[in-house]
Amino acid sequence: MIDITQLYSKTGYFTLDPGFSSTGACMSTMTYIDGDKGELLYRGYPIEILAKYSSYIEVCYLFIYGHLPSQKELQSFEETMVSEMMINEKLIEFYKGFASDSHPMAIMVGVVGALSAFMHKDFDVNDPRDREYIAIKLVAKMPTLAAYAYRTALGLPIVYPNKKYSFIENFLYMMFSTPMNDFNVDKVIVKALDTIFMLHADHEQNASTSTVRIAGSSLANPFACIAAGITALWGPYHGGANEAVLNMLKEIGNKENIPKYLQMAKSKDNSFRLMGFGHRVYKNYDPRAKVMQEMCYNVLEKTKRANDILELAIQLEQTALKDDYFIQRKLYPNVDFYTGIVYEALSIPTSMFTVMFAVQRSIGWICQWMEMMSEKVQRISRPRQLYVGEDQRQYIPIQDRK
Ligand code: ACO
Repeated sequence: MIDITQLYSKTGYFTLDPGFSSTGACMSTMTYIDGDKGELLYRGYPIEILAKYSSYIEVCYLFIYGHLPSQKELQSFEETMVSEMMINEKLIEFYKGFASDSHPMAIMVGVVGALSAFMHKDFDVNDPRDREYIAIKLVAKMPTLAAYAYRTALGLPIVYPNKKYSFIENFLYMMFSTPMNDFNVDKVIVKALDTIFMLHADHEQNASTSTVRIAGSSLANPFACIAAGITALWGPYHGGANEAVLNMLKEIGNKENIPKYLQMAKSKDNSFRLMGFGHRVYKNYDPRAKVMQEMCYNVLEKTKRANDILELAIQLEQTALKDDYFIQRKLYPNVDFYTGIVYEALSIPTSMFTVMFAVQRSIGWICQWMEMMSEKVQRISRPRQLYVGEDQRQYIPIQDRK
């Protein structure tokens, strides 16, 4: 086997940090997390305050331009965003090529990546104004791409965005309106969705954001970089957790089964984890989960849905938080513990949950990319590895091998 000391002397020292638990890969002015306190700030503003008084469009403006907009700036920005929601007709053809039972995340990886085929000539990534233009285009088109993925799966005709609706209303309109159904804007539902959008807008160097930065560090097309981020988001340890939580709650079924599932989560004999629990950075309650829990009540009341699943989730949370296993490891509910319950009440199908996350996180991804591209010195991301394979071996020609 290889002599590690020799390897170090040959190649110099580096830190081996699997999962990058303690490696900072960049500097950023966007999002601050204090995991011990359970604090999250977007450009210095606490998430709870933004969730209560602001809107997703304001948060997008804040991330792109660095400051909160005036009333006039906000109005003009939202008009621009809505006017950019249309996508090229040719891109719509792509949707017809996917198998009818495709997971909508698979469709999103494809169509967002395909944006790079439509948008590659009309910008210069080194020009800050062009980077803003890319950010607006991407974030504005994401709800449209997601709504079309949903409608394709159902075999429904697509619905074009309409300038009489706001950005969030347009998303609901493109998802749920049919020629047979009048579309009514419900303020409680719109506010709930808007809040979920804000809560997911950015979260510093998580797996998907780091993937966008790594892809971007090679100076690849920004839309292709976002497709890479969507891929990293898909799995159940990251963005796929919202889908997995709801499936888990349905499987648990009733309060009597909670101890059995907690036991399974604590056991190391299987791979079962309590989905929606735990976080690499938060070692306290995720502040976004608190906002989500409160919102569940409003949405369930408005949609007149039974709140059995919410009660089960609350009971599960309370039981886990009293359990030594979860206390010692500082495992608290994360943002996605309650998200799925709200989505289900809004009639969003489970397979679309992670797509929703991708739409919401697109602003964080693209602004992190903008931030990276604005740096004077750009270095390609290139982690090292500790080689633990065979030392140099003698090659034996095939006719001489036993
Ligand atoms: N259920 C049971 N045990 C858990 C859980 C969980 N949800 N999460 C962590 N643990 C345990 C681990 O088994 C480990 O135990 P050990 O010390 O006895 O070996 C200990 O807690 C530390 O866990 P790590 O895997 O080292 O934590 P890490 O920071 O790598 O993982 C993660 C964080 C992936 C979020 C993890 O907590 C998890 O899998 N949670 C469930 C999935 C989930 O909700 N993901 C969404 C994250 S938030 C987001 O992406 C929006």
